[in-house]
Amino acid sequence: MLTLGIETSCDDTSIALLEGESRLLANVVSSQVVHAAYGGVVPELASRAHVSNVLPVLERALEEAGTAAGRIDLIGVTHAPGLAGALLVGGAFAQGLALALDRRIVPVHHLEAHIVAILLEHREVRLPAIALVVSGGHTLLVHVPAWRRYDVVGRTRDDAAGEAFDKVAKLLGLGFPGGPAIEREARAGDPRAIPFPRPMMGRDERDFSFSGLKTAVLRWYEEAPATTRSARRADVCASFQAAVVEVLVEKTARAAEELGVPTAILAGGVASNGALREAMRARLEGIEVVWPSPVLCTDNGAMIARTALLRADEAVRPGAFDVHASLPLP
Ligand code: KG4
Ligand code: ZN
Repeated sequence: MLTLGIETSCDDTSIALLEGESRLLANVVSSQVVHAAYGGVVPELASRAHVSNVLPVLERALEEAGTAAGRIDLIGVTHAPGLAGALLVGGAFAQGLALALDRRIVPVHHLEAHIVAILLEHREVRLPAIALVVSGGHTLLVHVPAWRRYDVVGRTRDDAAGEAFDKVAKLLGLGFPGGPAIEREARAGDPRAIPFPRPMMGRDERDFSFSGLKTAVLRWYEEAPATTRSARRADVCASFQAAVVEVLVEKTARAAEELGVPTAILAGGVASNGALREAMRARLEGIEVVWPSPVLCTDNGAMIARTALLRADEAVRPGAFDVHASLPLP
């Protein structure tokens, strides 16, 4: 069974070819660089870049996999949530391909795919699990009693964790995307240097809020003399990262304990953060903490292909397909 996975929900054009459940033959990711100058993703530019990238990315994936389009059995494509224009490019491309090859399409929910990505490398994930989905657009705590069943038990009320990383990086002149840059800079800093707030840490509070923390960094930055700003950049990064990590870890730990789950899954771009991974393992004693490889944490076609396979019985004919900028987890 050869599954093609297409992901175009934001600023990465990615296409993967998955043989069976876990033999990844290709996972090509083309990250759009046009957005760097703006410090964030510009929707119109993202759609245009997907249009020009999507066919070359497919060709590269087929070449890497050493196969031909005719051998594809099933097509999975992200249909929600994301930038509508960006989703439409992937959706239209998938439909054209499905029509030409006479195949069916599985519409895939992007956030389910971030969670399911864990199955590509860990075939035996013990359920029920708590999944922390932390990306540029979303921050969710999800109870996973069984595959294809998801109960959201906490979410951000404002910024996503990745968005906070991106905004703070922009403020500090570290470029976009901000997460990897802040993590790198933080290694040289003291995480206890600046006591940034840990928002919404009340015992019964499962939701998140990161906009206050972002504002606290902004205020510190505005009040600091210019010389202090650059001299203490590493301390700011380390202290900001420590605040985000502590909130994410504490809420995940409490939810895992209250729900009595044996497993915690870290998912989404921010799950590639080393400080988050280490702190989570240290705090969640007796609970197995698992995460995908970095390239499977950030947006990728492989997670879309794996989710399409999981939901192969929901495949539709081209024409019976639509995209949604926002949609609850299935
Ligand atoms: O999952 P993803 O690729 O795209 C969305 O679905 O949003 O996540 C991208 C987000 C960006 O905000 C980026 O700054 C963040 O993940 N990110 C990180 C790291 N790598 C990526 N955040 C913190 N530490 C990292 N190492
Ligand atoms: Zn994502």
